[in-house]
Amino acid sequence: MKIAVVGKGGSGKTTTSAVLARTLAQSGWATLALDCDSNPNLGISLGIGEEATERLVSVRDAVDAGEEEHATSADDLVERFGVDAPDGVRLAVVSAIQNPKPGCPCCGISPEQLLAELERPDRLVIADLEAGLGTIMRLEKGSVDVVVVVGEPTMKSREGGRRAAESVFEAGLGRVMVAGNRTRTDEDEARVRAAFPGLEPVIVPDDQAILDAERRGEAPLDAARGAPGVRALVGLANGLLDVG
Ligand SMILES: Nc1ncnc2c1ncn2[C@@H]1O[C@H](COP(=O)(O)OP(=O)(O)O)[C@@H](O)[C@H]1O
Ligand SMILES: [Mg+2]
Repeated sequence: MKIAVVGKGGSGKTTTSAVLARTLAQSGWATLALDCDSNPNLGISLGIGEEATERLVSVRDAVDAGEEEHATSADDLVERFGVDAPDGVRLAVVSAIQNPKPGCPCCGISPEQLLAELERPDRLVIADLEAGLGTIMRLEKGSVDVVVVVGEPTMKSREGGRRAAESVFEAGLGRVMVAGNRTRTDEDEARVRAAFPGLEPVIVPDDQAILDAERRGEAPLDAARGAPGVRALVGLANGLLDVG
């Protein structure tokens, strides 16, 4: 199963992707987390720390600089540029490759190409996409199975999320699940539900423990496992396994 996580900048895509990836890996799935943001920081939320997250990026820079051999396939790319994260998650950074060279699977491969190419039934892929709709608009049918739309209760975030869900439906990309993130009040919850009729958003409370973990550069699952926001995201992961 391939899962793409989308939403407006700052809506909680990376936090959500990290909790999903680790929870799904804990349930026994081989899990690959793809950081598709040009400012990659999924490593921090997965719990490998700042240094390892920085190092991941610099391997990619080395390829750009011609100091490393190029990868020959999508899976080779993931192996070569990946790193092991807690719970057995494999993390690879896909974005921000400069100097795209057509025909080379590592330099210039886009998140949408990689998602189309990675195909192993025994593995889950979670892609933390760049903010906005760009990548999902370019995704080919069959490249993902589920799109998780992360939206905050603010009007701009809800609108962005609603448009994302609409594009997924229009393109027939797959199922949509919604995380109504950083919900504070019943009114917030009602706003999120109204923006996604028929989709039964998973309500994720605004949770100081998630922010505190982020400030320390720790994974929410390590720093705040029992916190309500984290528990709601774990619930979303279990929901994904149920729809399988
Ligand atoms: N449910 C939540 N409660 C409180 N803070 C949150 C929650 N979800 C995310 N955050 C915080 O919001 C900020 C943006 O989250 P992040 O996952 O990096 O968003 P994105 O990847 O969409 O830009 C981070 O500081 C993160 O810790
Ligand atoms: Mg992010």
